[in-house]
Amino acid sequence: MNRFIDHLLLVSAGTLVFAAAALAQSSDSPPDDHADRVLGKTLFELNCASCHELSIATSERKTPGEWSATVVKMISYGAPIAEADQPLIIDYLSTNYAPVR
Ligand code: HEC
Repeated sequence: MNRFIDHLLLVSAGTLVFAAAALAQSSDSPPDDHADRVLGKTLFELNCASCHELSIATSERKTPGEWSATVVKMISYGAPIAEADQPLIIDYLSTNYAPVR
């Protein structure tokens, strides 16, 4: 019986080591950065499709300053975008829809 318990303990210890290794590996890439990018895309899709197609934005190429002005303009048209979400949307657009140089 003790052997059986020892075996169980070994197995769960092994699982823990494996989980810890997986966690350590995923923290190699900057997780916050990635989360912000995914969040920016989601916020863009949620906030920018109610009045027109998303493609009206994704067909444009703008600098961060221009995207910022665009988002401010959309808010003046009535887009209900929380202040905290604005930089994430502007970042997402500036990174993915920047002028080609
Ligand atoms: C309340 C309605 C509304 C929402 C929500 C909205 N837009 Fe607009 N958008 C408009 C209108 C109206 C126009 C056309 C007038 C114009 O060209 O300024 C427009 C035009 C645009 C254009 C083309 C003109 C330009 O300035 O480049 C872009 C790009 C754009 N929107 C991006 C966005 C983005 C990005 C979001 C989300 C942050 C968004 N829109 C959300 C109403 C909206």
